[in-house]
This record gives sequence, structure tokens and C-alpha cells, in this order.
Amino acid sequence: MSPAFRSLNLVFLGPPGSGKGTQARILSERYCIPHIATGDMLRGEALRRTEFGTSVKAYMDRGELVPSGVLNGKVLQRFDRDDSARGFLLDGYPRNLEQAGLLDDLLAELGRTIELVVNFKASDEVILKRLAGRRVHPESGRIYHVDFNPPKAEGLDDETGDALDRRDDDCGDVVQQRLKVYREETIPLVDYYRKRGLLVEVDGDDSVGTVTATAMKAVGSQVGL
Ligand code: AP5
Repeated sequence: MSPAFRSLNLVFLGPPGSGKGTQARILSERYCIPHIATGDMLRGEALRRTEFGTSVKAYMDRGELVPSGVLNGKVLQRFDRDDSARGFLLDGYPRNLEQAGLLDDLLAELGRTIELVVNFKASDEVILKRLAGRRVHPESGRIYHVDFNPPKAEGLDDETGDALDRRDDDCGDVVQQRLKVYREETIPLVDYYRKRGLLVEVDGDDSVGTVTATAMKAVGSQVGL
């Protein structure tokens, strides 16, 4: 049964490796709202070698933000689908002030609003360990970690048995570049949403279960669940 709320539009912010994707999968299932992850969308396009995917892959591999134009359109179209009617969980979008303004405009046109922005904070030390050990199932986006969330059989996806991969942007200097881009482009969003009383901060260094419990408590008190 779907939880009792009229509208639940959530945004997850946080540096690479802070656990946004892990928590977004858990909470979107818990609240029966779609998980809209721009990183997953972009990797899916790159994997399928679509024209758009091929054009953005180089940006992602360098740890830079992809140009907003086409991506904005794809995210905004996603709100037209029936499954977004009661809410959505945006993970990795918006990523800068321009995207945040665009999102506000579109939601205003639709007569909707963001209920809560959860900012997952994490220390650089934790981030580096998480990204070094992350393994993914490229087709589904399922996330593992060699130490913190290992698959049942080493190197293989639990559901399909396919080989797991490292993300290209989890390797080498790209991680430092992603952190730099996060500090320069995305951190201003923390103040942007704080000033509007929409922001809650969660300690992402905690265990997955503790982070989930803290985030759910914050969501629950915001929307009266
Ligand atoms: P994106 O895919 O959004 O990457 P990101 O923001 O850098 O975040 P990550 O996916 O690296 O980390 P996460 O916080 O989701 O952590 P996770 O849960 O996986 O973006 C990739 C690229 O796409 C960008 O660089 C850019 O090029 C482009 N892009 C995306 N959106 C864009 C936009 N809006 N505009 C322009 N360009 C855009 O966890 C990490 C690891 O830690 C996992 O192994 C997990 O198992 C483990 N873990 C998670 N939580 C815990 C915990 N509490 N304890 C222990 N281990 C944990």
C-alpha cells in the first residue's frame, strides 16, 4: 500500500560517494515514488551509445558536468509520466544554480513544489574509500561496495550474475575533479535551499541503516508521515 501523503517531491544533494544513490533507492521504494537519477540516466545513454550518450560520455569521464540543455529537457519530461504524479526523488539534479532555477520554474508551472532537500554530508576520507571500493551493475545501476556492501558472489551482480564494473569516473584523478566541481558548482545549492527552509542535513558518514533512519525521520516530520 502507498504511504499516506499528498505530495512528496524530494531532492538529494551531496558530494560524490556520500551515499545519495544508495539512500535514494531505499527511500524511493519505501515511499513508492520514482527515483530520478541523472547520473544513471546519462550512464544508460552512454551504455546504449545513443547520440546523446556518446556526446556526454567525455564530460563524465573527465568528472565535469555535462552541458545542461538536453539533460534539462530529459529530466523535465520525466515529470510528465504518471508515476511522478504523487512525487519524485531527484538524485544528482539540480547540480548548479541554473538547474535549480529551471526546476523551480517548471514546478511552479505545474503547481508543484519541493517538499524537502536532503543534503548528505560526508568526509573526504570516507568518500575516497567508498568510491575506490564501489562496484556497479551497469545495466540496472545496482550499487555494491567490496567491503561495505559486497555482492553474494565476488564480482557478480546478485540478481543477474553479470560481471560488476568499476565506474570510469571512480578511477584516478577524476575523483578529485568531481570533488572540485561539487565544491564550485553544487555547494551553493545548500545555501539556496537552506534560505528557503527546505534543507535538512544528514551525516552520510554513518552506516547505511543509520543514514536511512535519519533521512526518513526528516522526511516524515516535513510531510507529517
Ligand atoms: P552521479 O552519478 O550523480 O555521481 P555523483 O553525484 O558523483 O554521485 P555518486 O553516484 O558518485 O555517489 P553517491 O552519493 O550516489 O554514492 P553511492 O550511493 O553510489 O553523476 C556522475 C556524472 O554524471 C557527473 O560527474 C556529471 O558528469 C554527470 N551528471 C550527473 N548529473 C548531472 C547534472 N544534473 N548536470 C550535469 N551533469 C550531471 O555510494 C558510493 C559507495 O559507497 C557505494 O559503493 C555504496 O555501496 C557505498 N555506500 C553508500 N552509503 C554507504 C554507507 N552509509 N556506509 C558505507 N558504504 C556506503
